[in-house]
Amino acid sequence: MNESSHLDELLASRASSSRRQIEPCTVVIFGASGDLTARKLIPALYHLALEKALPTPYRIVGFARREKTDESFRAELREALGKFSRTQPVNDAIWNAFASNLHYCQADISDAEGYRKLKAIVESTDNEKLRSNLLFYLATNPSQFGEIATHLHEVGLLEKCENGGTMKRLVVEKPFGHDLPSAQELNAELIQHAHESQIFRIDHYLGKETVQNILTFRFSNGIFEHLWNRDSVDHVQITVAEKLGVGSRGGYYEESGAMRDMLQNHVLQVLSLIAMEPPVSLEAENVRDEKVKLLKSIRPMTPADILQNVVRGQYFAGDVDGDPRPAYRSEPKVNPKSNVETFVAMKLWVDNWRWSGVPFYLRTGKNLPVSASEVRIQFKPAPNILFAANKNAQLDPNSLTLRLQPNEGIALRFNGKVPGAAMELRPVRMQFSYDTEFGAYTPEAYERLLLEAIAGNATLFIRRDEVETAWGIVDSIRNAWTDKPLTNREFYLAGTWGPTAADDLLAADGHEWKHPQLQK
Ligand code: BG6
Repeated sequence: MNESSHLDELLASRASSSRRQIEPCTVVIFGASGDLTARKLIPALYHLALEKALPTPYRIVGFARREKTDESFRAELREALGKFSRTQPVNDAIWNAFASNLHYCQADISDAEGYRKLKAIVESTDNEKLRSNLLFYLATNPSQFGEIATHLHEVGLLEKCENGGTMKRLVVEKPFGHDLPSAQELNAELIQHAHESQIFRIDHYLGKETVQNILTFRFSNGIFEHLWNRDSVDHVQITVAEKLGVGSRGGYYEESGAMRDMLQNHVLQVLSLIAMEPPVSLEAENVRDEKVKLLKSIRPMTPADILQNVVRGQYFAGDVDGDPRPAYRSEPKVNPKSNVETFVAMKLWVDNWRWSGVPFYLRTGKNLPVSASEVRIQFKPAPNILFAANKNAQLDPNSLTLRLQPNEGIALRFNGKVPGAAMELRPVRMQFSYDTEFGAYTPEAYERLLLEAIAGNATLFIRRDEVETAWGIVDSIRNAWTDKPLTNREFYLAGTWGPTAADDLLAADGHEWKHPQLQK
């Protein structure tokens, strides 16, 4: 089978499995001339159209300040799609049909008049469902979320409706606040005009197939869950590493740092899926209840614990794969004396029956040697009685690695006998690879997330108490850093695995980081 017919078959099979009863609706994107719309949202919606996964009919309205017509909006997005579409070439017949559903509303977010204009566009159709089923995607600065919701409410496009009534949903991008008080404030603003069940807070990691597969892997297999606890697990490592530096995002990053940008959301989300208890069912509320419970069982740290268990780092000039990188402090829009962390590593304890005494090591950073996210479950070593006398037979503790990206898959590491007369042992691996098993087809996280939001399934979105609990954890650590400038040992060379203190953190427990190994 050639590559393209293989892809068609995969698309068709996904289309039939993902086709569900979803009602016609209008998707309004605020921030429609921004990067996210061009790079992610429109390519995702186009692919959903390609797979016939969108409702019939549907409309998409872009809302932004720049002067544009429907035609110029479509032309710009077509050009961007050529660059950012994950499938090439773009299918022009599908694009043309898709583009005829795209409209532009030129208006300022703070101007009430703009919302009347939007209302007129939304109501310029005879289709009753398109007029009343509305999904508002807020891809703007979070400081504008509340204002947008209020304006939408004032013109009658958004109203609070719990379970039922017509569809009125808000999808909000991260960052959701910059600490607990600001997240609470934002929640309080949104909740004035929308019920919690109408708010879909995005964490794009939850749209990744491999992240969703964590629950499937744990709860649809008989053998692993028995081992998934303090009796068998020695420790857990979660690594979310990026080769990219901060680059042109210095302005944003100065306000966030690795803690807010990656740990508060993506890393804690992965941790909660890895460590949570089985939910009563896969219903959104049941899954999210368990995730919140897990986050709440993370042991609070005193300032002394933080000093001992949390390592922050900032990169200085180096190179990644031969590509020179400036120091963080020399990046555009970064304060030359900045103390913002571009790397964090930490040890957490989950105080519940399942995990008591099992350390969880988390790390994330920019300008690291590879871009890779993985979870490693390190099991307790077997008693080395039979092989101890043999110096060539060092036993390696078993481990299970969930490779979230790239080389998506799962590997189980165990000891095997090297063929031959001598009793020589060596660790070997059993591998599952998404590519080999399902073909090279990895839908973008945003495709899944948009579809779920349109369908009204909130499982892959963050609930209010979840986001607030995660901020509570992160705030307590960040507060301990206030007025503490970075010390020399907290810097790392771009292209290395963070400051040596990150290695010392594990070494103190007799452990070491296992860096993701990329297959070439
Ligand atoms: C975003 C962060 O949420 O996630 C970025 O703001 C980061 O700084 C990105 O690069 C990583 O996402 P992914 O999907 O490339 O792992």
